[in-house]
Amino acid sequence: MKYDFDKVVDRTDTESLKWVYPRKVLKVGDAIPMWVADMDFEAPPAVVEAIRRRAAHGVYGYPLIPPSFWQAAIDWLKRRHSWDVRKDWMAKSPGIVPALNYAVRAFTKPGDGVIIQTPVYFPFYHAVENNGRRVVRNPLRFDGTRYTMDLEDLERKLDEGGRMLILCSPHNPVGRVWTRDELETLGRIAVEHDLLVISDEIHHDLVFKGSRHVPFASLSPALAERTVTCIAPSKTFNLPGLSTAAVVASNSKLIESFKEETERAGFELGQVFGIVGFEAAYNHGDDWLDELLSYLEANVDFMENFLEERISGIRLIRPEGTYLALLDCRGLGLEPAALNDFFLKKARVYFSDGALFGEEAAGFVRINFGCPRPVLREALERMERAVASI
Ligand SMILES: Cc1ncc(COP(=O)(O)O)c(C=O)c1O
Repeated sequence: MKYDFDKVVDRTDTESLKWVYPRKVLKVGDAIPMWVADMDFEAPPAVVEAIRRRAAHGVYGYPLIPPSFWQAAIDWLKRRHSWDVRKDWMAKSPGIVPALNYAVRAFTKPGDGVIIQTPVYFPFYHAVENNGRRVVRNPLRFDGTRYTMDLEDLERKLDEGGRMLILCSPHNPVGRVWTRDELETLGRIAVEHDLLVISDEIHHDLVFKGSRHVPFASLSPALAERTVTCIAPSKTFNLPGLSTAAVVASNSKLIESFKEETERAGFELGQVFGIVGFEAAYNHGDDWLDELLSYLEANVDFMENFLEERISGIRLIRPEGTYLALLDCRGLGLEPAALNDFFLKKARVYFSDGALFGEEAAGFVRINFGCPRPVLREALERMERAVASI
């Protein structure tokens, strides 16, 4: 291994949301934070170096995004995802959550239904509801180990008036990397019902062996026409604090409407360090990412074995990608509403409560396993002791 993912970096005295919130706001001073989706790893050295070089310049005026920024994303999508895109199909965004909000405002009207596949990343609900649109739920099917899309239910929901779908691909929190078949079936329904798809592919690089991410818009020209894809290096390379993302749509009407909405929101320029970090990550991050993926997958194996051998009542829903996974804790016999608090107070491990993502995930928690293995081991040992005390 060229990169040391076992290295524990102390983040306690930084402004980290992940670390400050459970320790200083919820006041569990030694809690291990395994909730919000950032990893505890240092960014790739090429990113750190590029930002250091830019910081040393000392002048941080308004930026104009250089062509090399877009080229880095174009090359990345081609190299890693076999997807050909063009600069004039792209727009920038300070993040994917802002992009979802812009998209809801740009492509729907107040009162319109927007479909989401629950349980799902909870800002999807906010992007719809905070903009006066209606959430139309298309719950995923769960057979006890694996989630799939319920496409019959989706067709019913479309008949009831949903006109836009926010797709989470790969899916947070259920950890599915949708197969080409699943996406093609979804795509057929989208074309038949004239559905617009906002495809949040922020986790697209974080895919384990045996699965392959397929960009939804790459499936066919008809789908490209009706899809806006959200991408960013922020999950892949652990740069979410740099607030820099992009959207891609080959349909010029869609990309122009999206840009107009970002202008209405007053977001025109960009963030100096975000631009530099985005470009460096996409240009020089391949081998770091390959090693990260092996490390994360080994974390999944470690966690799965530990839970199977040492903690009864908690089951890992094995993820096919991302660094997030659901733990099915219904076997513990605790009230779902008390679950997250139990782990925080008794185990001193802070998760995201499953119910945040939808009522379907009550009794589950979401673990963020994007951390050094010694930290993961310590968290699991704390959980083991807490569960033994029930
Ligand atoms: C599916 C999904 N979309 C968007 C985001 C956040 O995106 P951003 O930080 O760019 O707003 C996350 C973060 O966890 C996510 O899981």
